[in-house]
Amino acid sequence: MTATVMMNGELCAPEDATVSIFDRGFLYGDSVYEVLRVYGGVPFELGRHLERLEASAERIGMRLSASREVFAREVRDAVAASGRSEAYIRVVATRGQGPIGLDPGLAESPLRIVVVMSPPLPPPEAYVEGAKVSVVGVRRNLREAIDPQAKTGNYLNSVLALAEARRAGAYEAIMLDAQGRVTEGASSNVFAVMGPLVLTPPLEVGLLAGITRRAVMEVCAAEEVKVLELPLTEESLRAADELFITSSIREIVPVVRVDDHVVGDGRPGPRVTALREAFARHVRARCALGA
Ligand code: PDD
Repeated sequence: MTATVMMNGELCAPEDATVSIFDRGFLYGDSVYEVLRVYGGVPFELGRHLERLEASAERIGMRLSASREVFAREVRDAVAASGRSEAYIRVVATRGQGPIGLDPGLAESPLRIVVVMSPPLPPPEAYVEGAKVSVVGVRRNLREAIDPQAKTGNYLNSVLALAEARRAGAYEAIMLDAQGRVTEGASSNVFAVMGPLVLTPPLEVGLLAGITRRAVMEVCAAEEVKVLELPLTEESLRAADELFITSSIREIVPVVRVDDHVVGDGRPGPRVTALREAFARHVRARCALGA
């Protein structure tokens, strides 16, 4: 795997891109991050991702070591240095290293990292045939614990959920909250098509405000498709005409099975297929504007 790495604004060889074992990102997951996709050399919705990075940092009381403008410049410079026009970008900010101890006041030197590499895309069959998801037993963190709206480096909740889904032979986990409401995937948002409506759980349930989720809502608005943010249950997922998940790298992935239940006729449906096409046009248009 070749990657272009920038640490605190300096390009460095991937083999030299190391962090201290005293870094709090390593010790506690005390960090925030973003994942973006580059299309034709343009990082899609860079402004929104950096806005969310700042919001995540604020939610965990972390002061970022650089302004949004500096992060944006470093991202663009790293993409240019990579020579890639289609890429995956990971932006990480850790609270830094310091004496071992939970107190965030011990952190001394915050770190910024930008990694650019080739995008780890799902297998093509996932789009053509649709994917299977599994509603797992691992519950989404309470908002009062670690708010899922903060995209922190503490991903063990999602790691365990995905491991459970993989044991069930599924591509993605669907996570419920403590009350049994659908929240999101381990690393994606979830949508259900019911009749003329597109439904997705509201942020209040406790989930990440996905950048792709928002873009899908904008695409639906432009296509005059009504989207409702409504609490969903496992039963409502099973009752949906069509289902799909969204994330920055994977865009829109049709879901055709929820555990042993077959969604619709078991093939990606016409609505999700039309949305995928409209989303691709939306991305091309936004990236042509440099957004
Ligand atoms: N994850 N929910 C969770 C828990 C996520 O980790 C992600 C994205 C999403 C979708 O958000 P977006 O549309 O902004 O990518 C929802 C990224 C891709 C990751 O961790 O790799």
